[in-house]
Amino acid sequence: MIVLGIESTAHTFGVGITDGKKELANEKVTYKTTGGIHPREASQFMGKNAHVVLENALESAGLNIKDIDGIAFARGPGLGPCLRVGGTMALFLAKHYNKPIVGVNHCVAHIEVGKWELGYKDPLVVYVSGANTQILGLAGGRYRIFGETLDIGLGNAIDVLGRSLGLEFPAGPKIESLARNGKRLVELPYTVKGMDLTFSGLLTAAKKLVGKETPENIAFSFQETIFAMLVEVSERALAHTKKREVLLVGGVAQNKRLREMFEKMVKPHNAKFGSPKPEYNGDNGFMIALTGWKMLNSGIAHDKGKLNVLQDWRTNQIEIRW
Ligand code: ATP
Ligand code: FE2
Repeated sequence: MIVLGIESTAHTFGVGITDGKKELANEKVTYKTTGGIHPREASQFMGKNAHVVLENALESAGLNIKDIDGIAFARGPGLGPCLRVGGTMALFLAKHYNKPIVGVNHCVAHIEVGKWELGYKDPLVVYVSGANTQILGLAGGRYRIFGETLDIGLGNAIDVLGRSLGLEFPAGPKIESLARNGKRLVELPYTVKGMDLTFSGLLTAAKKLVGKETPENIAFSFQETIFAMLVEVSERALAHTKKREVLLVGGVAQNKRLREMFEKMVKPHNAKFGSPKPEYNGDNGFMIALTGWKMLNSGIAHDKGKLNVLQDWRTNQIEIRW
């Protein structure tokens, strides 16, 4: 069975193709901006580029649309106008070529592609992207949320600090390289509430340092504090669940300092640590195709008449049947 997957939750429009064993295609275009994402502008950008990305994916796989056995698309969570670009294309393809269709949860797809690449079976998952910050694990057929942010996502916090420092969006990689040259650790608010996190106090305090401390010291102090908060709750979840694998996924998972902190943390727990390659950590169509493949393969297919996008679709609402 060959499945084509469409990603369009936020800034990336991607089309991936898989046979369930390997990547046959993974093409994308990304909407670039200096401020935050403007949903309508991002969706217009996607609308203009969607057919080219689809054609490129089919061409790089050496396939015709008629060779595809099923269509998957990211149904949520995400920005409504963007989600509808991918959803509309998926529904058109499914109806016109008479293929089964599945709506995939974007967060579950981030997890599934990581498990697939690293060969993990039952990891503690730390999912850190622009909008999301969650610590999860499989229990009773669902990804249960053990801890999460109570306000903004870790990536958003980094991007907002970046904007105050005059950096372009997404600021993650630039904050990371500035932090590498930080010399002084400035004390900043560290807010862990039980298993949950809040970042706004820390962010406000860090923004106040702009102009008083060097950008390097601000980036360094911010990263050390915010990552330590995340690693602390992740360690508690690991000790409690006694899982043997820790999987770090999402855009922020690219950060080398964060990976280093996780590597150190898992050692005394005799757990493995891993994170997917950049192409799979950022938003991409392949992760949607792969998760769609698993869903279709386990007998899940949706009614073509009833598909609507779900802007706020929680990871723990999905039944994991595969
Ligand atoms: P989701 O819909 O899953 O929340 P997303 O739309 O935020 O995803 P991703 O590509 O998963 O998109 O993540 C983007 C985020 O990752 C941005 O906030 C960006 O600043 C951050 N990021 C990217 N590289 C790094 C890095 N090296 N260090 C820290 N953060 C990074
Ligand atoms: Fe994402």
